[in-house]
Formats: sequence, structure tokens, C-alpha cells
Amino acid sequence: MQTPDKPLNCPPCVFWFTGLSGSGKSTTALALQAALQANHCKTYLLDGDVLRTGLCKDLGFSMADRHENIRRVGEVSKLMVDAGIVVITATISPLRTMRDDIRARFSPSEFIEIFIDTPLEICEQRDPKGLYRKARAGEILEFTGIDSAYEIPHAPELHLQTHANTPEENAQEI
Ligand code: ADX
Repeated sequence: MQTPDKPLNCPPCVFWFTGLSGSGKSTTALALQAALQANHCKTYLLDGDVLRTGLCKDLGFSMADRHENIRRVGEVSKLMVDAGIVVITATISPLRTMRDDIRARFSPSEFIEIFIDTPLEICEQRDPKGLYRKARAGEILEFTGIDSAYEIPHAPELHLQTHANTPEENAQEI
């Protein structure tokens, strides 16, 4: 990763990753954060798995709870962007309406929606936390892509594939 002598211009904004569980959102988000930090940008990564241990630990996976989860992540992102930070979020954020509600809180240049387009079959093969296996066995209900909806974005700012490119290549693309 090249590090320029002078910091790059880093206008505050939110890079909003969306995609299935196991699609590679967090991995790509971490690669993006590393690339931005190498260029002296002030960033913060809001990861769904982490937020669900604290800020959102009272929430489950019903659609109503997911709406509230995403609303909170969006509001925190808004505060951080107002404070001058480049925010990266990694949540499934399964419905278009959820993502569009957050988009409406920002100016057009501040909200960059990134669809991590990894097919369900590949996410399921990867199954890094063993959750797809449990969902198929009926041990976890309302699992995204199995028995809970995921709506692909119609017009994301970026559409990336993790089975064809490395996280670093995708970070450079972003
Ligand atoms: S979201 O739907 O509200 O955006 P979020 O991104 O915060 O979800 O959390 C998703 C993570 O929670 C998954 O990566 C997975 O590790 C875990 N998880 C546990 N139960 C479920 C479920 N029923 N559906 C999807 N993910 C789940």
C-alpha cells in the first residue's frame, strides 16, 4: 500500500457495506480501513457482530429488531460523519428500505453503498461461524438468505465480488 507524504483529502463519509453473513463484509471493511489509515485518514469501523455485543445487544434478528439495529448504526454513523470521521459499516442491513432510510440522512456524496455480492452457496460453503449449518438444521431461525429476506441493492455506488477478487483488491477499487 503506498503512503503519500501528505495526507490524502479524506472528506467525512460513510462506506456502507451490505451483503449476506459470510459474504466478506468485515474482511473487506478491514482492508479498506487499513488502506485509509495508511493514508492518514481518520476512520472508524462499525461492525454488526461487534455492535451486537454492546450498543445493540438488546436486539435479535426479527425484522423489527434488524430495523432498529440498522437505525442505530445509521444514527451513530451520522454523528461520526458530522465529527469529521470516515465511517465504515459492516452489517447485513437486509432490506432496501433500511438502507434507503439511512441514505436519506446524508448528503449524496456522503453515503457510499457497497454491495458485497457473494452468492449464498459460497457463503454457505465458507460458513466461518457454523451458523448456516445450524440454520439448515433448524437450530437458528430467521437466518438471512435461508428463512429471512435479503434484498440486493438496485443501484449501489459499488458492486464487489469476493470470490473473484482479494479484499485488498476490493479495497483499492473502493
Ligand atoms: S442485520 O440483519 O441486523 O444487519 P447484523 O449485520 O447486525 O445483522 O448481524 C449479522 C451477524 O449476526 C451475522 O454475520 C451472524 O454472525 C450473526 N447472526 C446470528 N443470527 C443471525 C440470523 N438469524 N441472521 C443473520 N445473521 C445472524
